[in-house]
Amino acid sequence: METYILAIETSCDETAAAIIKNGTDIISNVVSSQIDSHKRFGGVVPEIASRHHVEQMTVVIEEALSQANMTPSDLTAVAVTEGPGLVGALLIGINAAKAFAFAHQLPLVGTHHIAGHIYANNLMQPMEFPLLALVVSGGHTEIVLMKEHGHFELIGETRDDAAGEAYDKVARVLNLPYPGGPHIDRLAHEATEAVKFPRVWLEEGSYDFSFSGLKSAVINYKHNMDQRGEEIIPAQVAKGFQDSVVEVLTAKTLRAARQFDVKQVIAAGGVSANKGLRTSLEQTFAQEGIPLYVPPLHLCTDNAAMIGAAAHYMYEAGVRGNLAMNGRPGMEL
Ligand code: KG4
Ligand code: ZN
Repeated sequence: METYILAIETSCDETAAAIIKNGTDIISNVVSSQIDSHKRFGGVVPEIASRHHVEQMTVVIEEALSQANMTPSDLTAVAVTEGPGLVGALLIGINAAKAFAFAHQLPLVGTHHIAGHIYANNLMQPMEFPLLALVVSGGHTEIVLMKEHGHFELIGETRDDAAGEAYDKVARVLNLPYPGGPHIDRLAHEATEAVKFPRVWLEEGSYDFSFSGLKSAVINYKHNMDQRGEEIIPAQVAKGFQDSVVEVLTAKTLRAARQFDVKQVIAAGGVSANKGLRTSLEQTFAQEGIPLYVPPLHLCTDNAAMIGAAAHYMYEAGVRGNLAMNGRPGMEL
């Protein structure tokens, strides 16, 4: 049976709705970004995020239906990000999804945000198992092994800052606007030389990550230079930081891909938009002979299409939410 799922995503600072057919085809995909409202605070302000979601929620749902030229009666189910994320932000999407599902007598499917990021790839080409996903976003840095649809094994994760978080914090040190990831990426490509920063490998064999030491190394470097009255060269700092992040992410993903003998490697989450990381992964896995997939930019950052793709397989597996669904800020994969 064909499915047409209306998906809703409000876990952070994008208010998004999309309609996805069969977990693979984007019928419509609407994202309302709030980045401009959070910029002057240098990060996402939860209270502001929730208010924006309230204002934009029905607008993006109506737009998703109208772009698809569909009415609620054409839909199979309503999916929504249940967690992880900002609880107040999640609740706006969840309540909208519940109301919509109740009003139109549709099944409700709660979806994990990171499962969504991984399933963004299914909108480009079919996922093949076993598959390894490197999930790098503002809140997550994880290596996930999938042996079949809907099953996620956490192989490694960050013990402190997420990669995107480290990017955004280092960007602040360099006085770059929020979100800093793209700015560091751009600056890093302007430099030919790099400041040497440490690589954090943790214990031998570990697939975990740690980025807070690297972040501190950048802060200390700037502090020491300031004290000596010397100017830092931001592009060289950006390149040094990015080189360290990219080398560790690539090396650990490669080692895991070999160990689990995977058929595909996919990158997911906002930081997979990083040009340095993309190039490094592309070169590494081309050499290794393992297909690597990274979704196009607009599917790497937060959107609802990815939620609809993940939800299709959960719907098929019989997963159903009800009106007692609550936001789960710390939801596990
Ligand atoms: O997945 P995402 O849109 O939202 C979360 O679920 O966190 O990821 C946002 C993160 C931010 O930290 C942002 O700085 C980072 O992704 N990001 C990048 C790039 N584009 C976005 N980081 C590095 N390089 C980029 N080009
Ligand atoms: Zn995300």
